[in-house]
Amino acid sequence: MKITILRFDSLASTNTEALGQARRGAAEGLCVVARRQTAGRGRQGRSWVSEEDAGIFFSIVLRPRLETRHLPLLTLMSAVAVHRLLAEEFGLEPDIKWPNDVLVGGRKICGILAETTDTPGGLAVVVGIGINLNSRNFPPELGGTATSIEESTDRPAAPDEVLGPLVRNLRELYRTIGEPDGPRKILREWAERSSFGEGKRVRVVLERETFTGTTRGLGENGALRVETDEGGIRLVRAGDVESLRPA
Ligand code: BTN
Repeated sequence: MKITILRFDSLASTNTEALGQARRGAAEGLCVVARRQTAGRGRQGRSWVSEEDAGIFFSIVLRPRLETRHLPLLTLMSAVAVHRLLAEEFGLEPDIKWPNDVLVGGRKICGILAETTDTPGGLAVVVGIGINLNSRNFPPELGGTATSIEESTDRPAAPDEVLGPLVRNLRELYRTIGEPDGPRKILREWAERSSFGEGKRVRVVLERETFTGTTRGLGENGALRVETDEGGIRLVRAGDVESLRPA
């Protein structure tokens, strides 16, 4: 995959820009980066605070030749790429909250939003990644729930220190996922880097229902297996998972 980086001072959302570029025929490997976003999007219709230079606002266009059932693994793969980056370049001990939030000290440092679109050249997937560089402009409602590279390492991080290794990790993991045994390798590395895969007490918040249970690994499409407190395994494909104190 050849990487091309398009840089903008300001965009509504790097995902929106990358989706538009994909529909107009952009090749995979096109990366869109902005210094700020005016309408940054999060999962489940939430917004993503995107003050100028306070974070990495990044989206990459992919045109995966993967079986449809494996497409959700692209977000798990991206969380692994960010986890590697924070551990290897910044000496942090991150965790991955299912499916793809990256946490440091239990607080969120990165969010990932994957979106798909039909294009004349076939299905494209845009993976959007937001990584907090500093915490100076966090709005009060984020309270103690978010952190940044600067806050957790006690030194400022420059955008290019983050972007270079992020793109390298994504490129390498994307090559891996396309290999015959690739999906399994990605699942294995995700599980090694996340405390949420196995034996974690969680509350699962779905659109119409909430339940508690204990995690029991990932399904082959990346769904989270949860043994409910009532007994029985449920497969969680969407929704939010919160950590609970052990029973
Ligand atoms: C989440 O945790 O809810 C996902 C947040 C994803 C934010 C990134 S920032 C770059 C890209 N552009 C967007 O509008 N969103 C993603």
